[in-house]
Order: sequence, then structure tokens, then C-alpha cells
Amino acid sequence: MAGTQRVAVLGLGGMGRPMAANILRAGLPTVVWNRRPEPARQLGGQGAEVADSPAEAVRRADVVITMVTDADAVVSIAADLGMLAAMAEGVIWAQMSTIGVSGTERIARLVTEQRPDVVLLDAPVAGSRGPAEQGKLVVLASGPEQVRDRIGPVFDAIGQRTVWVGPAGSGSRFKLVNSLLLAFIAEGLAESIAFGHALGLDRAAVVGALQGSPLVSVWADEKLQRIGQDDYSPQYPLSLAIKDVNLALLEVDVDRFAVANSLAAQWQRAVDHGLGGEDLTVITRVLQH
Ligand SMILES: NC(=O)c1ccc[n+]([C@@H]2O[C@H](COP(=O)([O-])OP(=O)(O)OC[C@H]3O[C@@H](n4cnc5c(N)ncnc54)[C@H](OP(=O)(O)O)[C@@H]3O)[C@@H](O)[C@H]2O)c1
Repeated sequence: MAGTQRVAVLGLGGMGRPMAANILRAGLPTVVWNRRPEPARQLGGQGAEVADSPAEAVRRADVVITMVTDADAVVSIAADLGMLAAMAEGVIWAQMSTIGVSGTERIARLVTEQRPDVVLLDAPVAGSRGPAEQGKLVVLASGPEQVRDRIGPVFDAIGQRTVWVGPAGSGSRFKLVNSLLLAFIAEGLAESIAFGHALGLDRAAVVGALQGSPLVSVWADEKLQRIGQDDYSPQYPLSLAIKDVNLALLEVDVDRFAVANSLAAQWQRAVDHGLGGEDLTVITRVLQH
């Protein structure tokens, strides 16, 4: 039955941990694993079963979620650490990390070669740590239609909305579209605020004047408030944001996407200066100096 799905969540970083907590809160039996044991131990205190390895985590699961940094990490867990081999027949694997188009193709090949009975869903999310904590992510789901009822309660626990966008591989494509738009909005905020600074304008006054403008989305407004308070603590760390822009650029002729390419170079310089762990809005601070 859909409501009794046993869920394994592998990868308990800034996103995976609140996602697992919300699955638990929805009443679904949840087993968790993380490379560093501490985040799993914390969820253990909230009622999750804690596994010592990916293989142990998935052994009795009906649904497996991976939420780790990149495609190499997913492959390491799935192949090297025995996740795929340990899964029961017909289990759903919802791969929710942002790994781009070629990363997702790599994972799909792995499943075809090693466990063709496993149902792979390519289901990255839009929304950062705040929405993850509030269960308000948007799940960009893709994969076989016949498992939608089974996965429904799990995605409902994580997100406010699940958008089914086509066969596996589509979710990652939509995610990159979202990531690129987000990058440009963040860059637009950073350059506009830094420009105001260069003109000698008071930052609080600029932020105040932009508030309520039709140009400023709910997301941008929240970022502006944080920029106004010099708060660059990570919601969406710059290192992950640039990873996503680079995943997008991998799929196109970079000469035609010259602005995105230049944005990536600017962000990379900031990461090289040690700012990768800050929120992507930290570019504002970089441009003001
Ligand atoms: N943060 C956001 O706003 C956001 C929004 C949408 C999508 N995403 C995507 O969601 C994914 C996770 O993001 P996050 O913010 O949770 O990242 P994070 O806080 O940096 O956490 C990364 C997670 O990946 C694990 N990991 C990394 N390399 C690993 C490896 N080789 N083997 C096993 N585990 C490994 C880490 O384990 P340890 O704890 O042991 O290091 C940790 O659990 C990324 O693909 C990101 O692009 C993030």
C-alpha cells in the first residue's frame, strides 16, 4: 500500500536531512544513512532507523532516495558501496541530487546494466534549505507513470508540489533550466545592489525602494532582505550554485551562452577565494569591494 512505503534516505546534508525529517513526520517508516555518521544519529533521535552502510539502509526499503553532492557521489554509493546490489526487486530509486543531464544518463546506464528491475526516478528539486525544512520544495519528477501512486506520499512529504515532466532524464533537464534562471536572478540582485553602492546610494534605501516592485519575486525579496542585513549564511551555497551553472553549460555551446559563461567565471573566482560555503548572494559583497 502506498501509505506504508518504507523509505531509505541516503545523504543527509543541508537538503537530505530536512527531507528525511519531513518523511518521518509524515509517518512513513524511514531509515537513514550519511557518510559522516552525525546527521544520521540526530535523525535517529527523531525516530529514524540509522543504518551503517547504504546497503544496510536499502535492504528492506520500498523507496530509496539519494540526495548527495554530485554524480560521482551517487555512483560511489550506488555501485561501490553496494546500494544497487542490496535493493529488493522492483524498488523505486528516486535520485534527487542535482547531477545534470550526463550524470543522470550515467546513473540510468548503471541501473540498466546492474539492476534493470529497479525503477529509476530522476527527481531533482527546486527550492533551497528553507523550503526543504518547511516541506515546500518543488519536485521535478520524471520516470515511469506506473509508480506515481507509490511514490506520491513520499514526494508529498518533501514538497508542496510535484511536477511530472516526462521520462527519466527530463527532471534533470528542467532542473537545469530552473538553476540557470535562478543564477541570473541572483546575479541581477548582486550587480544591482553593488551598482547602487558604486553610485553612493544607501543600501537599506535601495532594498526598501525595490521591495514590492513587480521585478522582485518572493525568492528575490527574501534574498534582498538578507543582503540588506549582510547575511550570507548558506541557504544555497555558492559552490552548489556554480556546480549547477556548469552542469547547464555542459549541455550547450558556451560561445552562444556567453553571459552564463562569464557569470560562471566570476563565481569561480569567488569560490577560489574561499567563498564557496557562503550563500550565492555573497557575490554582492564581492562586487562591492
Ligand atoms: N542547498 C540547496 O539549496 C539545494 C537546492 C536544490 C538542490 N540541491 C542539490 O541537492 C544536493 C544536496 O545538496 P545539499 O545542500 O544537501 O548539499 P550539502 O549540504 O553539501 O550535503 C552534501 C551531502 O552529500 C554527501 N556526500 C558528498 N560526497 C559524498 C560521497 N562521495 N559519498 C557519500 N556521500 C557524499 C555529504 O555527506 P557528508 O555529510 O559525509 O559530507 C552530504 O550528506 C546537491 O546535488 C545540490 O545541488 C541543493
